[in-house]
Amino acid sequence: MPPSLIAVAERQEPLEAQPAPLPLADWLPGEGAWEVELGFGKGRYLLRRAAEDPGVRFLGIEVVSRYYRMVRRRMRLRGLDNLMLLRGEALYLLATTLPRGFARAVHVYFPDPWPKARHQKRRLFEADTVDLVLGLLAPGGRLFFATDFSEYGGRVGRLLASHPDLELTRRRGWPEGPRTNYEMKYEREGRPIVRWEARCAAAGGLHPEGRAAVVAAVARDSDDRE
Ligand SMILES: C[S@@+](CC[C@H](N)C(=O)[O-])C[C@H]1O[C@@H](n2cnc3c(N)ncnc32)[C@H](O)[C@@H]1O
Repeated sequence: MPPSLIAVAERQEPLEAQPAPLPLADWLPGEGAWEVELGFGKGRYLLRRAAEDPGVRFLGIEVVSRYYRMVRRRMRLRGLDNLMLLRGEALYLLATTLPRGFARAVHVYFPDPWPKARHQKRRLFEADTVDLVLGLLAPGGRLFFATDFSEYGGRVGRLLASHPDLELTRRRGWPEGPRTNYEMKYEREGRPIVRWEARCAAAGGLHPEGRAAVVAAVARDSDDRE
């Protein structure tokens, strides 16, 4: 995998040269609230929101270099000085690099559902990974999610509903209409879309099943060492 990168309109550097947790305000100074999009693809939502809300600071994460470069080019052409991009794998960056509890919103639209068991470690919404995603949110922050895979949407809904810190709402659409490139395409095709909004009432809680899985893994590891 190519090295992780960080970019704002006027600057790009390898992420490995940065301290952890990443000092976000050194890259985008100011008082504006933060919003994060994981897997921004061709960047329709992120670029539009950054242009419409100059007082908000946006952070986008995308693993595919081609999309990262495309959105970076557009960010620079449009002179967006409230947008920061990270090229890298989201779960890895969440676990190793990003600060916690800073965002008022996290957006995840049409994430790859990774249906094969061997790809499970890449899923953002499993009991033992969901807290990495939710950990970005400040208390009172909101997660926005959409997918066209009904079964997957149901599974994510059940996972979020069983989290003790979340208040879950099923959304039928967004006030401004379709948000991302995929949502626009799928709405045009008439595909059903599952959308969730989850408000994080408190910060720092863990999904009970995820916590149990981690505790069991640590116990197994300790047994192996005896
Ligand atoms: C199906 S596309 C949806 C793109 C965009 N959100 C939309 O709705 O138009 C999923 C995107 O998430 C990115 N992605 C998938 N897994 C990722 C991960 N673990 N970390 C970062 N990006 C990821 C993919 O590269 C792809 O651009």
